[in-house]
Amino acid sequence: MSDVHNEHPEHESPIKTPKQLIAVVIAAFLVPIIVIILLVNFVGHGSTESAGAGTTAEAINDRIKPVASLEIKDPNAPRVFKTGEQVYKEICAACHATGAAGAPKYGTAADWSARIGQGFDGLMKSMLNGKGAMPPRAGSTPDDYTDYELARAVVYMADAGGAKFPEPPAPAAAAPTTAAAPEAVAAPAAAAPAAASAEVGKKVYEQVCAACHAAGVAGAPKFGDKAAWAPRLKEGMDAVHNFALKGKGVMPPKGGYAGPDADVIAASDYMANAAK
Ligand code: HEC
Ligand code: HEC
Repeated sequence: MSDVHNEHPEHESPIKTPKQLIAVVIAAFLVPIIVIILLVNFVGHGSTESAGAGTTAEAINDRIKPVASLEIKDPNAPRVFKTGEQVYKEICAACHATGAAGAPKYGTAADWSARIGQGFDGLMKSMLNGKGAMPPRAGSTPDDYTDYELARAVVYMADAGGAKFPEPPAPAAAAPTTAAAPEAVAAPAAAAPAAASAEVGKKVYEQVCAACHAAGVAGAPKFGDKAAWAPRLKEGMDAVHNFALKGKGVMPPKGGYAGPDADVIAASDYMANAAK
């Protein structure tokens, strides 16, 4: 035994025979391969186990839900308008279902007949400006409900009270997304060419702006009142247009009008010209 040591004092190797050498070479290849196989198995198992107690389709769906159901809203997408019934249920019913605070009750002809007498335009004016205990736009903003949606609610309620008002015409841009009656009177916006004409300005004024500007309600510069308009017109028409589009104080942006900006500018010009 000790003479083996003496034979190779500096060269001690566990490999003593060609057989051992072959075994070592084979092991050098096999061991990493086995380790790799074990690792792959381990990782594979690890991930399926970490997918949760339930690896059912349901559990996985649940896991990816926040991403899968992400809703992307395109601000340029055509607005989908609510029906009169939807608007009624969301805001009007609060008062009109029971007749709270003296509101004409839904479906009660006796409450509505005298009011219907003033025609749709009269009712719509009350809607936009408020009347008695009813705040303007029933307290909503034009972002919540457009004039068109409020008009639908007015028609919905008035018709339930005995009127036979047709469904109001949809704003031009939204026509494809709503089922407005095709024979309905064209809205001023629909009749407007790209650049709104003076005629459109007059129509929009009469339909929307006159509610405040005809009588000078709530500090609005009165139509045709030179003294009221002069200091405003001095600022230049750009400032006047900007004012009309953005709104200020009591005046809502675009006067609450739901159509294109060009129509509001035309209406402003119409009013400005009348005060020159
Ligand atoms: C905060 C309570 C309240 C809410 C909300 C409300 N109304 Fe009214 N509404 C009233 C009252 C009160 C009257 C009666 C006002 C008067 O004649 O003095 C009225 C009257 C009306 C009239 C008749 C106007 C007239 O000229 O005679 C219409 C049309 C109308 N409401 C439509 C609506 C619509 C459409 C909605 C929903 C978009 C709505 N209201 C939401 C309280 C409300
Ligand atoms: C709810 C009432 C109301 C309606 C509806 C309304 N306005 Fe006004 N408007 C006002 C009031 C109030 C002012 C004055 C506000 C102020 O000076 O603080 C005003 C001011 C203006 C001015 C003066 C701008 C300036 O430079 O001083 C213009 C222009 C104008 N409105 C255009 C319009 C047009 C166009 C419409 C219709 C599309 C409209 N308004 C609808 C209430 C209204």
